[in-house]
Amino acid sequence: MSDALLDIRGLSVHFHTPEGVGRAVESVSLSIAPGETLGLVGESGCGKSVTTLAVVGLVPSPPGRIVAGEIRFQGRDLLKADPESLRRIRGREIGMIFQEPMTALNPVLTIGRQVAEPLVAHLGMSRSEALKKAARWLDRVRIPSAASRLGAYPHELSGGMRQRVMIAMAMICRPRLLVADEPTTALDVTLQRQILSLMAELKTELDTAMLLITHDLGVVAQTAGRVAVMYAGRVVECAGVRPLFAEPLHPYTQGLLQSMPRLGAGRGRLHEIPGTVPAATDPIGGCPFAGRCPSAFDRCRRDDPVLETVRQKRQVSCWLYDPSKQEADP
Ligand SMILES: Nc1ncnc2c1ncn2[C@@H]1O[C@H](COP(=O)(O)OP(=O)(O)O)[C@@H](O)[C@H]1O
Ligand SMILES: [Mg+2]
Repeated sequence: MSDALLDIRGLSVHFHTPEGVGRAVESVSLSIAPGETLGLVGESGCGKSVTTLAVVGLVPSPPGRIVAGEIRFQGRDLLKADPESLRRIRGREIGMIFQEPMTALNPVLTIGRQVAEPLVAHLGMSRSEALKKAARWLDRVRIPSAASRLGAYPHELSGGMRQRVMIAMAMICRPRLLVADEPTTALDVTLQRQILSLMAELKTELDTAMLLITHDLGVVAQTAGRVAVMYAGRVVECAGVRPLFAEPLHPYTQGLLQSMPRLGAGRGRLHEIPGTVPAATDPIGGCPFAGRCPSAFDRCRRDDPVLETVRQKRQVSCWLYDPSKQEADP
């Protein structure tokens, strides 16, 4: 897809640990069109964060290593870019928001200085000019009496306010792509909604594409245009948000949707998917979901399925949808 803004192809990221080689991300292919929001979902440990870290060039190495693939951003392979160009792209063309703003913000620098920094570093703006713009951005992300907060330190703000500061920092250079890894997970439900609608509003206004990682399918349903479902380091299903919710194809996606708490259905998860995600260091034999899959048959335990396009626009990695299934398993 040459018109994609971000095009990840065959990305594999391995971690070399004392327990063996952890295949955190295995042959992942994903693409995001300009202005589009792609939701990336899946249980904890399935490789969502490592995939995003690879996009922004921040996979910890060692122990991590990108062993295969391409990450094309505006046509250019980021995996081949030198560290200096990567630094330029990151923060200017690709903005990032992470789950815990306290670790991303520098505790000894003022909010104003940190929000202004990308303008100074990437756009060569003078510090006083950048500070004025930072104040406007703090106002834009609805931090009350923004100008007076420029001199505040991160610990003086609430969690929600810190996350707004992160959004201002990520968006201030008007990036083409915003990468948001569980941006609201640490916040309470009311704040989550406010922050997400703020992000949606800014993204529409600036026409920014977004890679939104979350384990909250409700958030995805409200925000994303397309969804990729990850399991054990692979993309097992990818589809438009409506078709995916209306008719999930992969048994894992079906399980995830059933475990989604519904409005008025009370608290907690109704149907957890039984079993656990295989460890990244476990040897692969067949489909990684076979051990938990209610529809698994012999072939699933033997052969590893790959992501195939089915029913025109749907992509799924599951032998139930293999066109040659009839011949293979009579
Ligand atoms: N620094 C690391 N060292 C070793 N293994 C790691 C490291 N970071 C991530 N992993 C492994 O990579 C896999 C995917 O992790 P991650 O992308 O963080 O999952 P998710 O974000 O979907 O919860 C996990 O099995 C995790 O143990
Ligand atoms: Mg994560």
